[in-house]
Amino acid sequence: MSLKVSNRGMINPFIVMDVMRSANKLEELGEDVIHLEVGQPSTPAPLRVIEAAQEALNKEVLGYTDSLGLPFLRERIAEYYSTFYGVSLNPSRVVVTTGSSGGFLLAFLSAFEPGDRVALVAPGYPAYRNILTALGVEPVIIETTAADKFQPTIELLKNSGKLDGLILASPSNPTGTMISREEMKQLVNWCSIAGVRLISDEIYHGITYGTKSETVADLDENAIIINSFSKYFSMTGWRLGWIIVPDELMRSIECLCQNIFISPPTLSQHAGVEAFNSSEELLANIKRYTKNREILLKYLPSAGFSDIAPADGAFYLYANIESISDDSEEFCRRMLSEALVATTPGVDFDPFNGKRYIRFSFSGSESDMITACERLTNWKQ
Ligand SMILES: Cc1ncc(COP(=O)(O)O)c(C=O)c1O
Repeated sequence: MSLKVSNRGMINPFIVMDVMRSANKLEELGEDVIHLEVGQPSTPAPLRVIEAAQEALNKEVLGYTDSLGLPFLRERIAEYYSTFYGVSLNPSRVVVTTGSSGGFLLAFLSAFEPGDRVALVAPGYPAYRNILTALGVEPVIIETTAADKFQPTIELLKNSGKLDGLILASPSNPTGTMISREEMKQLVNWCSIAGVRLISDEIYHGITYGTKSETVADLDENAIIINSFSKYFSMTGWRLGWIIVPDELMRSIECLCQNIFISPPTLSQHAGVEAFNSSEELLANIKRYTKNREILLKYLPSAGFSDIAPADGAFYLYANIESISDDSEEFCRRMLSEALVATTPGVDFDPFNGKRYIRFSFSGSESDMITACERLTNWKQ
């Protein structure tokens, strides 16, 4: 007898993970692959974080913590809002999570019912729509173009029917484009009039090139702000993030935390607090991304990739390849096997136009960027 299998779990794969698997297989066969597919820092966690982890291993019991996170970490995160953004924040609204991914689950479960409609743009981070789908919430995917900076406009939102939520990401993955403070205010205002709950993914804050990251925390007290130690703080594998929660959702989120996660990873919490005392190392990482971005922007055009979105932040370049190929998946597969450069096809981020785009990640080393550009320039596409 065949047993029942839930449709809710039948969500799309995260294609970049599949690309990574193919790249790793080639490496196992002895090939030297340059990884421009992965969206994670190639640097370890800051030294003080690692030292704090070692100390905690020696000194702490490392049992469960409070479900909302260790109080001193919640306080330190609130303090960071004051130093980084000049925004005063009550630590009682900070909830420590298992990466921002855990934060999305809590945010969507607490704010939306099955059948609700939540808008997000394409191209965008695929897990938003895949998690919403698994929860029975309808992702309303708004098609955007380079002319909109791949960000939602009020016009586009007005044409999307009745909405219950809107997910914003600035800087965005995969385009790196940002929403200005003025545009953000207008979007917040529109959401408040239309009764739409804003979810602001601020995971790439701090990784910007000349433009300051602006939080929604002081613009909309009904918004859920999502952030993480993964990118700016270079701690992807530590699985630590946080959310800023509106008062009315606090108890619901606390109960969800207790039942789904019990608590965020304890070792990472003890160590993570030191991430806020590591600005020198973090600044060095930004300098490296800045240099990497310059290298790709300088040399990719001569390798045939000239139509690239202006990345104000994050560590990605989103390139239009329509003059070379109309099938980004096949193109990336060929690039990997022939030029040994791994990139991510746009179809991961955009069901409408993704076949015409690929994403380069420049989170790796400077020498990897140079080698990748050389290989792509010599590659006969
Ligand atoms: C836009 C965006 N949000 C969230 C995440 C998830 O990050 P984490 O769960 O490691 O905090 C990612 C990872 O790539 C991302 O690009």
